[in-house]
Amino acid sequence: MKPINVGLLGIGTVGGGTWTVLTRNQEEITRRAGRPIQITAVADRDTERATSLTGGSVKVTGDAFEVVRDPSIDIVVELIGGYTVAKQLVLEAIANGKHVVTANKALLAVHGQEIFAAAQAKGVMVAFEAAVAGGIPIIKAVREGLTANRIDWIAGIINGTTNYILSEMRDKGLTFADALADAQRLGYAEADPTFDIEGVDAAHKITLLSALAFGIPVQFDRAHIEGITKLTAEDIRYAEELGYRIKLLGITKRKADGFELRVHPTLIPSKRLIANVEGVMNAVVVKGDAVGATLYYGRGAGAEPTASAVIADLVDVTRLHTADPEHRVPHLAFRADQLSDTPI
Ligand code: HSE
Repeated sequence: MKPINVGLLGIGTVGGGTWTVLTRNQEEITRRAGRPIQITAVADRDTERATSLTGGSVKVTGDAFEVVRDPSIDIVVELIGGYTVAKQLVLEAIANGKHVVTANKALLAVHGQEIFAAAQAKGVMVAFEAAVAGGIPIIKAVREGLTANRIDWIAGIINGTTNYILSEMRDKGLTFADALADAQRLGYAEADPTFDIEGVDAAHKITLLSALAFGIPVQFDRAHIEGITKLTAEDIRYAEELGYRIKLLGITKRKADGFELRVHPTLIPSKRLIANVEGVMNAVVVKGDAVGATLYYGRGAGAEPTASAVIADLVDVTRLHTADPEHRVPHLAFRADQLSDTPI
């Protein structure tokens, strides 16, 4: 069986987890994908660390463009993050006929229209299960499992860092700053943690979910965003005394005249399931007209949970890549032609 060759851009927390899980579960993953999936090139600023993590068994470079231009690479996994270089790399990978797997919600929420259109024109896939809610297969749930439904609304805890901070402040009396430092140490926070605490990361994710659920354009700038930086320990304690918990929710709703996207701290009655989602866990409720409300729960950040989603995409792309070409593109790719111009 000819292996699928993967170029990994970034071998930090999630890239390292992807390497570990792919190596550890190689047998199962090969069986499920139908072909071995092997990382044959890694690009990282820290080439020494990359070489030591991969045991010197793959090509390591400090220049990510080398990987996206390498004709032997079938799939590029982009785990660099950010909007600028990552965008150039993803567009160049697509232009070179490579499928892309990415965890980069910021990039897709802001430049998704351009990227998905480029992928569609080239007939390659851009898969992004890892971009929303870490290890929870929420993209597949919305796109595939609930495909018969008219989705009415989605609401969820979709940022692990802020949920961790709120939980630690409430349960252990930690200060905001100490809880954030812990979340950073545990590998949950973004490179720029203001994205987490100001609600921007959750807004990136709800933008992607709403585009998928409603077939609307990816329009991050239409989201209302409020983070958790103004919350105090007293707010959390008073909420508790009144029988509520405060959670940062991402919410998107179908309205009579368009769609609503918002992220803000929300008071939730303590008895509700979602009020009891603690620490780095995420939970997303999706309400469909046929199925009713469905709930998805799991680790929203961290090395191996996010790697689990990256590898799920690698397996999907590999399966479809090896199938009859007639059937392989539209299913997984986010197709620009499915997006309507309905106002949000
Ligand atoms: N910083 C993100 C979070 C990582 O805390 O949820 C996963 O997307």
